[in-house]
Amino acid sequence: MSQSGKESWGTRLGVIMAVMGSAVGLGNFLRFPGLAAQYEGAAFMIPYFIALLVLGLPLAWGEWAMGRFGGARGYNSAAGIFRTLWKRPFAPYFGVLGCLVPVGIYMYYILIESWCLGYAWHYLSGTMATVGHQAALAGGKLDKAPYEQLFASFTGASADGAAITGHCLIFLIICVALNFILIFRGLSKGIEKFCLYAMPALVLCAILVLIRVLTLPGITEGLGFMWNPRSAPDKPFAEGFLHALMNPKMWMDATGQIFFSLSVGFGVIITYASYLKKDDDVALSSLTSVAGNEFCEVALGGMITIPAAFLFFGAAAVGSSFSLGFLTLPMVFESMPLGQIAGFLFFILLFLAAITSSLSMLQPAIALLEEGLGLTRKTSVALLSLITLLGTAFIMYFSKNTLALGTFDFWVGTFCIFLLALFQVVLFGWVLGPERGMAELDRGAEIRVPRCVGFILKWVAPIYLLVIFTAFVVEQALAKRADNVFAQIIDKPVVTMSIGLIGLLALIFLIIIHYSVKRWNTLDQQRGPRSREDIP
Ligand code: ALA
Repeated sequence: MSQSGKESWGTRLGVIMAVMGSAVGLGNFLRFPGLAAQYEGAAFMIPYFIALLVLGLPLAWGEWAMGRFGGARGYNSAAGIFRTLWKRPFAPYFGVLGCLVPVGIYMYYILIESWCLGYAWHYLSGTMATVGHQAALAGGKLDKAPYEQLFASFTGASADGAAITGHCLIFLIICVALNFILIFRGLSKGIEKFCLYAMPALVLCAILVLIRVLTLPGITEGLGFMWNPRSAPDKPFAEGFLHALMNPKMWMDATGQIFFSLSVGFGVIITYASYLKKDDDVALSSLTSVAGNEFCEVALGGMITIPAAFLFFGAAAVGSSFSLGFLTLPMVFESMPLGQIAGFLFFILLFLAAITSSLSMLQPAIALLEEGLGLTRKTSVALLSLITLLGTAFIMYFSKNTLALGTFDFWVGTFCIFLLALFQVVLFGWVLGPERGMAELDRGAEIRVPRCVGFILKWVAPIYLLVIFTAFVVEQALAKRADNVFAQIIDKPVVTMSIGLIGLLALIFLIIIHYSVKRWNTLDQQRGPRSREDIP
């Protein structure tokens, strides 16, 4: 029996849908196309697929196996699972990353989720059609200004404090309420049931939008822009392509995208897998959710956004993920027949993708509060909602140029994910060891995972991560002061405050883990000596 009660998944399909729901999110439909376009189309796909094969897929298998291992011994939180895997007093404290990453990302992710819901409403209520008419009045070409005004007034991107009184607040309240109601209902009745309906619905919406985009005359040019290897205009092809491949930042971003997109190194899969039964399959389930995520990312996300934007407005319109999603795409939908319907479907699918992901980001901390401090579900949900509301309010208040959001996205959504992924790779490859790790993966498995996965997690993945991480730090240290992420902590007060808040959040989770460890030790003593035969 789990220390946090008897929660478990209802069905095999349910758990796969929940993990896929966590994985398929804004990363698939906004972040991935934005990065791929930024890095010369096909050149980006090389580090992307290498990261998928040597990091994403093997670590997803590792997380599923380690999560089920900890769950079978009564733990659902990262801290508890790490404690069962590594019998050292400091091991559970690494669990701080298993809560900091999902909760820190949730704090800004929910904001973007509310923008998606708000934009879907703009289509339904006719606001977007009005903005489209205003934009068309300027002459033959669509004027970008009305779209920029809508985005700025809705999200508060023009000035700090503007979002608090903006229209997005009501949508944020709806999103927060929905997330916490579903989390309160529990794993099977809340998360699993919702994902069982939401995932097919979002795939259906995506396929409908894709059909509309692929039937646009001349779309092959847009697809070519997204997928063909390109080079700078002044360079021969081979030289330009190789030059693109030499960019260490692209390798770092491609690796970060794989982690972010698969929800690997997130603290989510390890917690979700802990609710499986001891002999449930993890090998095929993990592969299915990774494959499902890649289908949504490459086949759906990669074929909708950029090709359509390029077709109507050319390469110059393909900007950052936000400007692409909330400025360019509404203009694209305005320019195409049936565009209002496509626009509504697109933002609803973004909203569904976002909510199934944000839900998953709450469960790891709920598990820790319940099993670590012995709190009831009601109290842990209330406590977590208070903590996350404070963080979201901060990010929402400092909305100018989305600086606080960007800082959280980099330091939690990339940097801390790297650290957690590295720790988990070491845990599987070195503490559990490839032999025992693979045996754990094989139990109840419906496919045989290739034996090289153990070798990859022991040698290739940690070296790969360390090399990329070092290259990143060196690159940043050499970067001009304005672009240097370390210098920004001192130079920009909003960045300084955001880092302070992230530190405070880490401290809160450290304190909670400290008390949890004390409580678990006491409970262990009361139970008497336990069988340690399969605990390292
Ligand atoms: N995995 C989630 C996404 O791609 C967080 O958005």
